[in-house]
This record gives sequence, C-alpha cells and structure tokens, in this order.
Amino acid sequence: MVKTWFITGTSSGFGKELATLLAQKGDVNLVATARHTEQLDYLNQYDHGQILKATLDVTKKDQVAAAVKSVEDKFSTIDVLINNAGLGYFATIEDSNENDVRYMFDVNVFGLADMTKAVLPLMRNQKSGRIINFSSALGLVTMPTMGFYSATKFAVEGYSEALNQEVSGLGIKVSLVEPSGFRTDWSGRSSKKVVPKEGDYSGYNDMISANDQNSEQAPGDPKIAAQIIYDQATSGDMPEHLPLGQFAVDGSRAKFKKLTDSFDKLEKLAYSADNK
Ligand SMILES: NC(=O)c1ccc[n+]([C@@H]2O[C@H](COP(=O)([O-])OP(=O)(O)OC[C@H]3O[C@@H](n4cnc5c(N)ncnc54)[C@H](OP(=O)(O)O)[C@@H]3O)[C@@H](O)[C@H]2O)c1
Repeated sequence: MVKTWFITGTSSGFGKELATLLAQKGDVNLVATARHTEQLDYLNQYDHGQILKATLDVTKKDQVAAAVKSVEDKFSTIDVLINNAGLGYFATIEDSNENDVRYMFDVNVFGLADMTKAVLPLMRNQKSGRIINFSSALGLVTMPTMGFYSATKFAVEGYSEALNQEVSGLGIKVSLVEPSGFRTDWSGRSSKKVVPKEGDYSGYNDMISANDQNSEQAPGDPKIAAQIIYDQATSGDMPEHLPLGQFAVDGSRAKFKKLTDSFDKLEKLAYSADNK
C-alpha cells in the first residue's frame, strides 16, 4: 500500500537524505518541503507524479496550513510526518542573544508543534500515523556552550513523550530520533556562534569555533541514518527513542546511570517529603 511521507527541511542534511531515499521507493508518496523549493531540484530525476514539493518555513503558520492542505488535495492522507527542520546555536548561556534563542525555539519547538497540530486531525481520522520528531543526543545530555540548543531538544523530548501517551490509543505513534554528531550543514551554516574573545568564558573559544569544521568531521553519516530511520519506521516496531551514533548511546547511558545512582542514594530523603 502506498504511504504518504511528509518531511520538513529537505534542502540539506538528514532531510535531504531521507527525501532522496523515499523518492526512489515504489510505495511512497513524498511531500518534500523547504523554505525555498528551488533547493529541491535534486528530486526531479525521481519524480513521476509521486512527489509534492511545498514551500514551508515551519515558523509561518499560514505556510504550515497551506502545505498540509496541498497534501490533502493531492494524496488525501499523511501516514508519516518527519519533523526534521532545525537549527543549532553555540554560545555560553550568558553570551546568548535572546532574539536568536527565541527564534531557535520557534523553529525547533514551536514549528515542530505547529506542524504536528496541523497533521494530527488527519491521522486521527484515518486512525493511524507515525510522527518522527528530530531531537538530539543533546535532548538527553548537556554540554557547555549548547545549553539553549539542549533546552529546545529537551522540550522536544518532553512534548513528544507526552504526545505519544495521548495518541497511542488512537492508532498514532510518536518516536524521537536522537543523533550525536553527523556530517550535515547543522553545525556550520545552520548554527549561529558567539565566540567569547576574552574574559571568564574564553576557554570555550576553540570549542565554539571548531563547530564550523564539524560539518565535515563529525563521525555520523546522514545517508546511513536515513536508511536506519526508514527501516525502523517501516518495521512497525520503531522505538520511542532512537539514538543514532556512539555518543548518543554512551553519553546518555552514562548520564542516566549517574542519575539512577544518585536517586538510589536520595530515595529515603525524597520519600520523606511526602506526608499524605
Ligand atoms: N547534524 C547533527 O549533528 C545533528 C545532531 C542532532 C540533531 N540534529 C538535528 O537534525 C535536524 C536536521 O538538521 P541537519 O543536521 O540535517 O542540518 P542541516 O543540514 O542544517 O538541515 C537543517 C534543515 O532545516 C531547515 N530549516 C531551518 N530553519 C527552518 C525553518 N524555519 N523552516 C523550515 N525549515 C528550516 C534547513 O533549511 P534551509 O536550507 O532553508 O536553511 C535545512 O533543510 C535538526 O532538527 C537538528 O537539530 C542534527
């Protein structure tokens, strides 16, 4: 049976790899979206009427509504929504610019939520659907200079887990993808950087500047990631949390072990605060 997949942010990185993979499947209607659809010409070679390109800036509610309407008109359903579009931001908490941080929340969190809200009625009507939200390893663990980025991805984690609880009885499943470092445009052009030249935070200078090169040097291969995500999503058994890359597993495991050990020690004290 032909399924309709809708992906945000398919101009580069994970979104482009996923779109390229899906465009070659015989049983897929692909909705490839981007802020500038001329960046989607790479899909033309695969298009035999099964690809819909839509202009979509996820921060623009009118474009979100129009994109979903155009899919309803052409394909009637949306079976898989991949909320991939996202930005980074490298700066200490103190050096972070409020407007830039708010914009990152608009894209990474509220854009994802608006997209989801627009697609949920369709999925509820058809009593089936899969929503795949791009979080990050940094949605589970933190590191200096990435505090506000982590804050957006921790928000995506909490939102997605609660949504999964709300809609699992309606035939809809929600999964989180949690990549560590991958060779996409994310740490380069898709992330603003505030390099502390001097002062108490100057020790982070190199750590922040180095991200411009991470687009080429990160261990993760987005083409492999796209294949794993596709295989998982079509397996019928995709986990709620899908880590991708070694750090995504090892970093998270270390954090949760430390937290569990600490809570084991604090258990009696914590319980003692309840008196009813
Ligand atoms: N690469 C990593 O190491 C890594 C690790 C963990 C998580 N992630 C997450 O993976 C997701 C995809 O990023 P990527 O790594 O593939 O980076 P990427 O190559 O920079 O791709 C980001 C995509 O998001 C789009 N985008 C940005 N702002 C948008 C907006 N307002 N509306 C619609 N689309 C917008 C970009 O479109 P334009 O071309 O128009 O800018 C681009 O297509 C993000 O959510 C990111 O946080 C990445």
